[in-house]
Amino acid sequence: QTVYLSDYTPFGWQVQDVHLTFRLAPEATRVLARIHFVPNPDAPKQEFFLHGEDLTLIHAAIDGQTVSPVQSAEGLTCAVPDGPFLWECEVEIAPAKNTALEGLYMSNGMYCTQCEAEGFRKITFYPDRPDVMSVFTVRIEGDEPVKLSNGNPGKTGEGFAEWHDPWPKPAYLFALVAGDLVNHPDRFTTMNGRDVELNIWVRPGDEGKCAFGMEALKKSMKWDEDVYGREYDLDIFNIVAVDDFNMGAMENKGLNVFNSSCVLASPETSTDANFERIEAIIAHEYFHNWTGNRITCRDWFQLCLKEGLTVFRDAQFTADMRSAPVKRIEDAQMMRGRQFPEDQGPLAHPVRPESFQEINNFYTATVYEKGAEVIGMLKRLVGDEDYAKALDLYFDRHDGDAATIEDWLKVFEDATGRDLSQFKRWYSQAGTPRVTVTEDWSEGTYTLTFRQVTPPTPGQPDKAPQVIPMAVGLLNPNGDEVQPTTLLEITEAEQSFTFDGLSARPVPSLLRDFSAPVVMEREVSREERAFLLAHDTDPFNRWDASQMLGVECLIAMITEGATPDTAWLDGLERVLRDDSLDPAFRALMMGTPSQAELARVLHERGHTPDPDAIWNAAETLAQFRAERWADLLPRLAAEAAVDAPYSPDAEQVGKRALGAGVLALQTRLDGGKAAQAQFDSADNMTLQLTALGSLVRAGRDAEALAAFEEQWKDDRLVMDKWFGLQIGAAAPDVAVERAQALTQHPAFDWKNPNRFRAVLGGLAAHHAAFHRADGASYALLADWLIRLDDLNPQTTARMAAVFQTWTRYDEDRRALMRAALERIAAKLNLSRDTGEMVTRMLAQ
Ligand code: ARG
Ligand code: ZN
Repeated sequence: QTVYLSDYTPFGWQVQDVHLTFRLAPEATRVLARIHFVPNPDAPKQEFFLHGEDLTLIHAAIDGQTVSPVQSAEGLTCAVPDGPFLWECEVEIAPAKNTALEGLYMSNGMYCTQCEAEGFRKITFYPDRPDVMSVFTVRIEGDEPVKLSNGNPGKTGEGFAEWHDPWPKPAYLFALVAGDLVNHPDRFTTMNGRDVELNIWVRPGDEGKCAFGMEALKKSMKWDEDVYGREYDLDIFNIVAVDDFNMGAMENKGLNVFNSSCVLASPETSTDANFERIEAIIAHEYFHNWTGNRITCRDWFQLCLKEGLTVFRDAQFTADMRSAPVKRIEDAQMMRGRQFPEDQGPLAHPVRPESFQEINNFYTATVYEKGAEVIGMLKRLVGDEDYAKALDLYFDRHDGDAATIEDWLKVFEDATGRDLSQFKRWYSQAGTPRVTVTEDWSEGTYTLTFRQVTPPTPGQPDKAPQVIPMAVGLLNPNGDEVQPTTLLEITEAEQSFTFDGLSARPVPSLLRDFSAPVVMEREVSREERAFLLAHDTDPFNRWDASQMLGVECLIAMITEGATPDTAWLDGLERVLRDDSLDPAFRALMMGTPSQAELARVLHERGHTPDPDAIWNAAETLAQFRAERWADLLPRLAAEAAVDAPYSPDAEQVGKRALGAGVLALQTRLDGGKAAQAQFDSADNMTLQLTALGSLVRAGRDAEALAAFEEQWKDDRLVMDKWFGLQIGAAAPDVAVERAQALTQHPAFDWKNPNRFRAVLGGLAAHHAAFHRADGASYALLADWLIRLDDLNPQTTARMAAVFQTWTRYDEDRRALMRAALERIAAKLNLSRDTGEMVTRMLAQ
């Protein structure tokens, strides 16, 4: 059953206020609701319908009179008075039996909720849609020592706690947590002097892993004041860590709930990457308080209104806290690695989709990351000052609203006087635009001609030209920049731009800073790329020049049996030796394109990717680099050494990243000696885990894996790493057997999404192992997805997307993947979530 954007109709009533009472019991929680409804003057007349799923109705009354609503699997309808009325309702639910981790459920004996997008309907009957906003008052009754909900605390006493949230909100922002929790407390004073109590709530034993998250929270609160003028608006801000959680975290008003992997951190148990991710997610959820909560979405088609903007804001925050170029390169990697495949395959959808069956399937890289890129383009086009003006107007005009993309763009039009009707195509057209470039040079005039084409995507055969902000610089043949970065606005299918008064034919540096999420198709000689690698002033393009040389090199090795490109490697070596460059940047420079990315590019260029050939080429290149750089490596290792106590700051993180790149190559020369030494002496998880990875790759892992397991068997988050790494670092011919064996390990708790993802997601992320020619990995994945679907449709559907690239491969692999998808599709009582995903993938 498909829902369409064009069918939007407002709900027939407004909700004046909501009073909820929870009588907690694992198998039989009672939820009592008292809700004042008033007719909505802006809505067409309609039947009174409340969403409700898996609820046992105990009693319902209108204005004190018992009523007998008509129930269905989706909710209930009921005859109601013409004017305002009071709805009272009692239902029973069983949180302990809720394995879908949506609605009210239990994790390690603790009650918690996840309501976005449509989980509140599993708690009580309600108009569970984001445009219905109301003030919630909550009473929680139970023996649990800690009982939390949204807003400010009210009365508490023996066996109960009350909460009142003064800010009207949609039901998806509701949250409740109750259990035996301990807190890491702190305080923050806002710019207008509001004293806010801050807490991170965790299971006893995890208190020592909260300090970093708390610092990140305070930095986020300050940053949002400084940069966006946004102040926090309650007396308390609570964060709770939950072990069983389908996603990263959730921005419930005043009570953010986090996957424990996205908040708990300590040097001994968390890697640098974990620390960075935690800082970014804490910021993301906090920033939602304005972009998401104070201004929410009218309907779920507008999801990118809050997610794209909030991802954009958290990226700005990370760029400010750490290195802006490094963050930009990481985001471009993310776009190419995760969003482009989505945009170029059967799951392609616009940033603002126009239909869906299950909204949970649209929390995607396209909505989030491309949604953020679209805002970045908008900012580039209007400039920083006008962006700030537009955002002020947005907060001013729409505070308290459930808004749309039209509202968002109108704000920019009003603030800047620009017509954004063509720009809006970024929200409605799916697919990655491809931009080709030709050059012309005559008598001091240099002309760049761009042609853009967006390939067809499901349901969208024809595409119109989009507005592409193309940041360009020009370099002289001697390496000097003769044209600093300037923004060309491409709006036509074909369009030229000229530069006059040049003394020599320049070398162009295009798409600087990854100024638009497009694929550049340009015949560039190796010499020119090498020139940009050496001279470009734009860090992203310098990195990209090397990446593209790497792509060309590997593709030549794969398709023509060529030997590695030594000119590239020597140019790269000069960059790596330049100790004026940030180690973090050099670590990124050292990285080569992933095997999945190579497969994507090969496909883009009309080749059928051969996973084994890709694996072999990547191995050959790595071995070649290790040998060629044998005397560079010790020098870099010395530069990467940190002789201060561990800190996850940008400087140390950069050094360790460089060190990890070096160790991977070093291991190819010394068979794992250096890795073993690092493993034995490591006093932090980053060094310990990189060393373990190298040992696994070198096949010297038996002892180290056992030692690691013995050391960390009681730490769930570290054990997730232990499970994942053994597969991620395994040789392609043994990874699936390893994964299979690990699913039999006593600690493989397949109902825990983090653990399930570590093993099965780890296998799917290993390109050559996942695509093993006999189809063993496809089959194992299908088996487990079929098993998980009954319990947890959301995580199953999300993981099913690992098959989205299936049509790229050779006939045998295609047949095997199709068979796996068909087997999933044929499962009895397949969930709507998974059903929609496999149908879309098979439709191709
Ligand atoms: N709003 C949350 C965030 O971006 C994510 C919620 C994901 N929900 C879902 N049903 N997939 O921070
Ligand atoms: Zn978000």
